Amino acid sequence: DLPARIRIHEVGARDGLQNESATVPTAVKADFVRRLAGAGLTTIEATSFVHPKWVPQLADAEELFPLVRELPVDLPVLVPNARGLERALALGATRVAVFASATESFAKANLNRTVDEALAMFDPVVSRARAEGGHVRGYLSMCFGDPWEGPVPVEQVVRVCRALLDMGCQELSLGDTIGVATPGHVTALLTALNEAGVPTEALGVHFHDTYGQALANTLAALRHGVTTVDASAGGLGGCPFAKSATGNLATEDLVWMLRGLGIETGVDLDALVATSVWMAAHLGRPSPSRTVRALTPR
Ligand code: HMG
Ligand code: MG
Repeated sequence: DLPARIRIHEVGARDGLQNESATVPTAVKADFVRRLAGAGLTTIEATSFVHPKWVPQLADAEELFPLVRELPVDLPVLVPNARGLERALALGATRVAVFASATESFAKANLNRTVDEALAMFDPVVSRARAEGGHVRGYLSMCFGDPWEGPVPVEQVVRVCRALLDMGCQELSLGDTIGVATPGHVTALLTALNEAGVPTEALGVHFHDTYGQALANTLAALRHGVTTVDASAGGLGGCPFAKSATGNLATEDLVWMLRGLGIETGVDLDALVATSVWMAAHLGRPSPSRTVRALTPR
């Protein structure tokens, strides 16, 4: 059985743009977020309040967020630590995401911390955000494979998921950061999480399409009952701290599949494709999304 409706958590403006070599002007980013909202997306990750030297592409978070915060959509932002949360709260952000790793190698590369040091860094961030009435998502990277460590044992993922939920995260996003997952692995991980007491309702999935498996993996997750799926308009993105990662599952590819399955998303596919084509022109390279290409008149 498949869900009747799913929520797309759009990450193009954050996960997408953080990995583009071109510097996108703040005004263009704001237009991008507006156009995504206009296309019917209701959760649009806007930016990250991380160290600007670590992610220079998103160093304009202070300028960008006020340009979009009145939009009638949810605009989560990434915050790694207390400093990031303060910056986000000062601008009126109410939905934040911390981002943990299932592997030591990526925790070091992405956060300059061990897995447990990073969790200790997030704990007061989550408490404070919740105390302010905010909503907290916990990302977990490298849930399937890691570029340095290879296949990631399911128990490692389960442990960090439990820790994120126990500290107060209301939703988790299981990241296949480098796109190596396959559907059987997805089902096995979701099952193991359920057995460890993590309910499917708390879980979203975040697939990168490096090996072309993102849609197949998504379908496996939907069959398991997952109703939150991360995707990036036009398939933008990757991760600057994990070299082999390519873009996320393209939102258009996801919407095309869901439409065929009769699953409601509220997204206007034509408006979304037009947005990705417009953004691709700004980035100077065509969208890698098959659906964007198929629906673009030439
Ligand atoms: P660090 O170098 O260990 O920082 O980096 P620190 O805590 O030692 O602080 C050093 C200096 O940075 C201090 O300044 C801090 O104030 C400042 P000083 O006192 O020396 O002048 N600082 C900050 N400034 C602005 N904003 C901040 C901030 N924090 C400290 N928030 C740190 C640690 C966590 C800061 C760094 O590693 C970092 O910013 N990492 C972010 C990496 C990132 O954004 N990665 C991409 C997102 S994750 C992802 O893409 C995966 C995902 O898509 C899921 C998937 O696909 O798997 C979510
Ligand atoms: Mg990602």
